[in-house]
Amino acid sequence: MKDGSAEKCFIPLPNFPPVSHMDLDDNIFMLPGPVKMHPRVLRAMSLPARAHRDPTFFEIHREIRELLKYTFQTNYDVAVISGSGTAGMDAAISNLLTKKHTAVVAHNGKFGERLVEIVKRYSNAIAVGAEWGEVIDTEKVAEAVEENDVDAVVLCHNETSTGVTNPAWEIGKIAKKHGLLYILDGITSVGGIEVRPEKMGADVVVFGSQKCVAAPAGMAALAVSPRAEEMMVENPPYYLDLKKHLEKYNNPEKADTPYTCAIPLFQALLEALRMIKEEGIEERWRKCAAMGEATREAVKAMGLKLFPRDERYASNTLTAIWLPEGVTDKEFRGTLKEKYHVVVAGAQEHIKGKVFRIGHMGIVKWTDLAATIVAIEATMRELGLDVERGAGPGVIAEHMARYGL
Ligand SMILES: Cc1ncc(COP(=O)(O)O)c(C=O)c1O
Repeated sequence: MKDGSAEKCFIPLPNFPPVSHMDLDDNIFMLPGPVKMHPRVLRAMSLPARAHRDPTFFEIHREIRELLKYTFQTNYDVAVISGSGTAGMDAAISNLLTKKHTAVVAHNGKFGERLVEIVKRYSNAIAVGAEWGEVIDTEKVAEAVEENDVDAVVLCHNETSTGVTNPAWEIGKIAKKHGLLYILDGITSVGGIEVRPEKMGADVVVFGSQKCVAAPAGMAALAVSPRAEEMMVENPPYYLDLKKHLEKYNNPEKADTPYTCAIPLFQALLEALRMIKEEGIEERWRKCAAMGEATREAVKAMGLKLFPRDERYASNTLTAIWLPEGVTDKEFRGTLKEKYHVVVAGAQEHIKGKVFRIGHMGIVKWTDLAATIVAIEATMRELGLDVERGAGPGVIAEHMARYGL
């Protein structure tokens, strides 16, 4: 055009507000739950309405039940509750312990502390604590069990608030030696870290759907030993009456839930569990272990410090890292999210604003992890920190090759 207006269209205006391409689908979503869901899972969640008592839904329950046994690596009875992971732990504890019972509860973070609170609500608790970032001391657990009249041991396997994996197998041996019930919060371990309830001597194991299984949030699955089924309390909570849930769910003819389940979520859970079976549970464990190691090595190569004190117990499903000195959580995670669309988690309680956490569970891809590390490097540089170019990303590339990619 002669007046030059067409040309003007392409000239950026001074102080033009930045265009945000931010879209949830465009994010690299690296939280330790909820986690990224596969399109297959999302599609299953959006199927048309159907009744939970429809025979086709019994089929869905039946398949979920079989796939849960596979995911838990158990022959125990299983059930799915419409409620988050905490509902699963609440159900496990309230159905097995009363004020006549005492449980040793080992805790070293937010979720272990929550278990102490739940146990105290229904029963008596002997809390065996460790500092956040430390691992549970098995000797202290053994002492607490030996010196007191105890009925159960309760443990958070993978402490998501600190990125520490507790020695759940060792603690299982202590419980077994003393014939105690062993209740395990496997909310961020099942599906990502080796769990085998029978071999661990665990009586109840719980997982949360939004974690390693990569299903939508809002469901908790439980695996319950025959012994625990026999030891259920006389007056359980009405809705979370585990016996009722297990009986219904394990009816081979008509697997069902006592009340209306979260139908769309169950449909999505089935698809997420199918994906685990297709990939193989051991492969998921192997992938988490490889990604965990790669993440730890990469952040160290960038000069960052892991939050767990003893790296041997650092979790394979998430990594907790100290924020670099002189940088606020808002600046760090804000830049990662706004500029690079990489979403990582902050921390809770007294370490809030000091630690950030990267989830690498479920269906997270190596290329998602690589992009996250590249974005962390760029963010650090942008915030004026000294970081060797390519050090972190190079580590990821090396570990990808080691993994066979
Ligand atoms: C180890 C652990 N236990 C319990 C919970 C609580 O689960 P929910 O938020 O699903 O109730 C979480 C959630 O992050 C967790 O990581």
